[in-house]
Amino acid sequence: MSYIVLENVDYTYPDRTEPAVRSLNLVLKKGEKIALTGLNGSGKSTLAKIMLGFLKPQRGRVLLDGCPLDRYTLPEIGARLGFVSQDPGQMIFNLKVSNEIAFGLKWQGKSREETDELTGRYLRRFDLWHLRDENPFNLSEGQKQMVVICAILALAPDFLILDEPTKNIDTSRKRDLLKALRYICNQGTGIIVVSHDREFVASWGGRNIQLTNGEVVAR
Ligand SMILES: Nc1ncnc2c1ncn2[C@@H]1O[C@H](COP(=O)(O)OP(=O)(O)OP(=O)(O)O)[C@@H](O)[C@H]1O
Ligand SMILES: [Mg+2]
Repeated sequence: MSYIVLENVDYTYPDRTEPAVRSLNLVLKKGEKIALTGLNGSGKSTLAKIMLGFLKPQRGRVLLDGCPLDRYTLPEIGARLGFVSQDPGQMIFNLKVSNEIAFGLKWQGKSREETDELTGRYLRRFDLWHLRDENPFNLSEGQKQMVVICAILALAPDFLILDEPTKNIDTSRKRDLLKALRYICNQGTGIIVVSHDREFVASWGGRNIQLTNGEVVAR
């Protein structure tokens, strides 16, 4: 079943003449395992931001779960699509690691007990339990990244988009991340890994969508 559909999508940044992505046609199925690859500047992050409704294409349309994306509010999109940006440090705003995980769960309306249970479960799954009382701002870049990924995954989105998730993390953390992502994908969550880490992409497997100069060259 198709979940995210892009039809003839073009996007040009306001101060540019050349489109950052052009003539994009893609169908992503519910629960699909995807790697989005391409050189620097090929349009990967732009494509992710279009799917998330952060950027509105000048041409074409985007459908989410059968409805045009512009009919959803950003929080409604956020409840379906989880996003971890290329600079996860910017996404941290709580002073305690466990609160960073709990925040979104409370916002979703989960009870205190449910929030505590899920927070504990996800902190343990990502091997962050020992850091639960730390201030995230004092953690290493790699640890911050894991906290943000953990917080987004705890919200159980239908699809998860991770922009360069291995940028700051070491080999052993990469293995843990891969394991956690595989587990979550097997539970039915679609995952798009945006990456130029060839080794990680090769281990991740899944469908490879490749961009060159804003165009899809492999799907
Ligand atoms: N905010 C912006 N304003 C103007 N142009 C932009 C902006 N962000 C990106 N671009 C341009 O759009 C094109 C695609 O950029 P994008 O960030 O989507 O590439 P990317 O594939 O994610 O690259 P990277 O691998 O370096 O993250 C590039 O030519 C870039 O210069
Ligand atoms: Mg990018």
